[in-house]
Amino acid sequence: MLPRDVISTGSLILRPPADGDAEAIVRTCNDPVTAWFLAALPSPYRMADARAFLAKAEDKWEAGGAEFVITENGQYVGSIGLRQPDRWGAAEIGYMVAPWARGKNVAATAARAVADWAFDHGLRRIELQAAVDNVASLRVAGKAGFREEGRRRDAKRLRDGRPVDMVLFGRLPGDTVTGNEPYLPFFEAGHLSDGVVRLTPLAVGDAPDYHRMMADPIVAAYSVSPPGTLEDDERRCRYTGYWWVSGQRIELAVRDAASGAFAGHLQLTQVVPALGQAMVGYSLVREFRGRGFMTRAVNLLVDWAFANTALHRIVAGTEAGNAASQRVLERAGFTREGVHRQLFPKADGEWVDDVAWARLRGERPPR
Ligand SMILES: CC(C)(COP(=O)(O)OP(=O)(O)OC[C@H]1O[C@@H](n2cnc3c(N)ncnc32)[C@H](O)[C@@H]1OP(=O)(O)O)[C@@H](O)C(=O)NCCC(=O)NCCS
Repeated sequence: MLPRDVISTGSLILRPPADGDAEAIVRTCNDPVTAWFLAALPSPYRMADARAFLAKAEDKWEAGGAEFVITENGQYVGSIGLRQPDRWGAAEIGYMVAPWARGKNVAATAARAVADWAFDHGLRRIELQAAVDNVASLRVAGKAGFREEGRRRDAKRLRDGRPVDMVLFGRLPGDTVTGNEPYLPFFEAGHLSDGVVRLTPLAVGDAPDYHRMMADPIVAAYSVSPPGTLEDDERRCRYTGYWWVSGQRIELAVRDAASGAFAGHLQLTQVVPALGQAMVGYSLVREFRGRGFMTRAVNLLVDWAFANTALHRIVAGTEAGNAASQRVLERAGFTREGVHRQLFPKADGEWVDDVAWARLRGERPPR
């Protein structure tokens, strides 16, 4: 049984919940972000729901788990709890932060402190699950010392009923907790723009446009994998946050800056930190071709990457016959480095050569 302690960490005090917390809990659970990611909560969330939650918190302590409210200067800023540990001493942690206290490291500080406290009381493993598109929670996991252990496909449902994959994290008592600076930071302003094109994280709302573009015969002809279903593409778009936070890749929508219309897709993928290398890949919607959009987009992304990451070398590959793509790379300051013979499999069973390109840190596009 865990003791009903009060935990002090930085400017936060964590204590067992009390009746007086009900109103702040109602406000937090009615926040749209909370309601979306904690889809099992009643919505709308009423005072009676908060009272039922407070009663359940008592039961949770009795059953060997823990439930705290997080306070700062005496005010409610969030909730954090541990489910009843299993017979092997593993328990799952869950949290929410009030909308008025977000972005100040509250969840990460509290999760780290609760895990430390639980280990001090004999727990052997703390688990944490976050949806692949819950960027804030994925960052919290990393900052609180949790390591990714895998993904649980279709493990939960979103509030709209669609299934969502969950990232599973674990923390053990002996794990070192580092600052966890991400290899790929987020765009400071949320997007990149040169006034003509705008690059935004590829989102679920982009899936229909992305799907249509990938079905274009010219795009399909140069894709390595066959076109997916709309459902596959929605799933792919939902993964943007997870891939970015975990340093695996950046997936972007290229937009017409003036209208905001979806003009194409650009990715920074195959990130190999040990080599300081990553690869760009792209496709443009037919109506936006021939206007220099992708050259601008690649330049924006590559300039950003050299300024904001440790990358040293950004590579690209084009099919030997893809003249338009090769012009994009030349104009974006890439140098042709050689040919990978018969790299790309084609639908007719043939293999075609890949022309290899790279732009190194410090190199600039021609004027
Ligand atoms: C998840 C949640 C608890 C995070 O609380 P918080 O105290 O604001 O979290 P922190 O301040 O510790 O960290 C949030 C991190 O996510 C980042 N972040 C948040 N939203 C983001 C977004 N849309 N895009 C990019 N980054 C985002 C923040 O910049 C910060 O990272 P940084 O420290 O590298 O800058 C809060 O958003 C919440 O209550 N959400 C609803 C309930 C929920 O999702 N619970 C978890 C279920 S698994």
